[in-house]
Amino acid sequence: MADGTHDGTHDGTHDGTDTASSIERAVKPYRGVYPTFDRIPPHGVPREEVLRMMREMRDRERPRWADGYASGSVYHGDPGHIDFLNEVYAVNSQANPLHADLWPSTVKFEAEIVAMTADLLGGVPGVCGTVTSGGTESILLAMKVYRDRAYERGIERPEMVVPSTAHAAFDKAADYFRIRKVTVPVGADGRADVDATAAAITRDTAVVVGSAPCFPNGLVDPIEELAALAAAHDVGFHTDACLGGFVLPWAERLGVPVPPFDFRVPGVTSMSADTHKYGYSAKGTSVVLYRDAELRHRQYYRTASWAGGLYFSPTLAGSRPGALSAQCWAALVTIGQDGYLDATRRILDAAARVKEGIRSVEGLRVVGDPLWNVAFVSDDDAVDVYRVLDVMGHRGWSLNGLQDPPSVHLCVTLRHTAPGVVERFVHDLEASVAEVRADPAAGGSMAPIYGMAAMAETQGAVEELLEAYVDMLFTP
Ligand SMILES: Cc1ncc(COP(=O)(O)O)c(C=O)c1O
Repeated sequence: MADGTHDGTHDGTHDGTDTASSIERAVKPYRGVYPTFDRIPPHGVPREEVLRMMREMRDRERPRWADGYASGSVYHGDPGHIDFLNEVYAVNSQANPLHADLWPSTVKFEAEIVAMTADLLGGVPGVCGTVTSGGTESILLAMKVYRDRAYERGIERPEMVVPSTAHAAFDKAADYFRIRKVTVPVGADGRADVDATAAAITRDTAVVVGSAPCFPNGLVDPIEELAALAAAHDVGFHTDACLGGFVLPWAERLGVPVPPFDFRVPGVTSMSADTHKYGYSAKGTSVVLYRDAELRHRQYYRTASWAGGLYFSPTLAGSRPGALSAQCWAALVTIGQDGYLDATRRILDAAARVKEGIRSVEGLRVVGDPLWNVAFVSDDDAVDVYRVLDVMGHRGWSLNGLQDPPSVHLCVTLRHTAPGVVERFVHDLEASVAEVRADPAAGGSMAPIYGMAAMAETQGAVEELLEAYVDMLFTP
């Protein structure tokens, strides 16, 4: 789970019930503290009271992400930036781009967000796209486009060829849109395997995928080679740059060796790039780009025969929050190229220190040589990396557990560039590894669950646990 299920307390030995209740306490800390509303209150709660409760919750939750205890999650987070984006949101709070005539301001913002992103990711004429709600939606839409094109080409059961490190959004797209997902295990270097990908392409392939970089280990797939394969078979190639779209171009300009990954690579036909990550917009925006308008047309929904009138919507949602697009645009234009370059320089510097720190911890090994999303494995049989994840959780850290291989990552953001944060991470990591070495049963919330997830025969049980977890989230 990537959303921080640790409650910061160490409750000693664990059985299944302990684990379930500690996970529940972590995400339901307000039960009994604030009134629970399971029906609309008969009389409205005073606004000041609602604001008071929310401010208390914010103040309780803020330190963990603001002080750099979280992997990814909040990518900028400086108070001045947040206050500005909040003001922009307030100015635009009623806007809905579904009604372009009422809010031409949102129309301007969205067109320019797409143009600025296309310019950043290769500046190739003809590249076009739309604003979406996040990386997952960008990926879902691109996969739907290729599925529909495959149908038009007479392919009855379209397939997507995807490296095993690609984001779960591709699994979701396969599930939602009935596309067969052909998962290709990555090579020993943790990057997509070009030969294995070539072998996986069939007459039913609609699209091949690569990440720049991928979520688990932060490594950039060999996009040039993969895209060339796709082009040779006349199928689409999607670069998932949700994580890297607003970092790699700046890293390249800073002189860091960045393998080609964007529209400058001839076979790349679409990309996803998340403004709400390193674009430093608030959550709820991403961009999906296509090499040409013909591909983008397959994304649109339009109907001329609806009783409600002529209707179109470019993305999954109908009505959309124009205020989110406004604050995304405002983030891009106020930060500017110099701001992004500076942010990237600071992130890469912090990440270099994170890598060095992890390498200094006996028994741990960094996976490959990532730029800023740093995964590590344990080479020491006495140190279960998921126990380290748990013990780091007790120290307040919200890191990401990963599988194949069992590993953990810290995705470095501007939150980690403040003085002392990287040093605290390395110190806590060293202490956590020592704690697990001394007591192999230390920690305990997530380690047993990851243990079950690693075995095919218990994966189903873990998926049921995830279902129960979501049910619990939606129980007041
Ligand atoms: C490489 C990559 N792709 C896609 C996504 C999905 O993005 P979102 O959570 O915005 O839907 C992520 C999220 O971390 C990611 O790292």
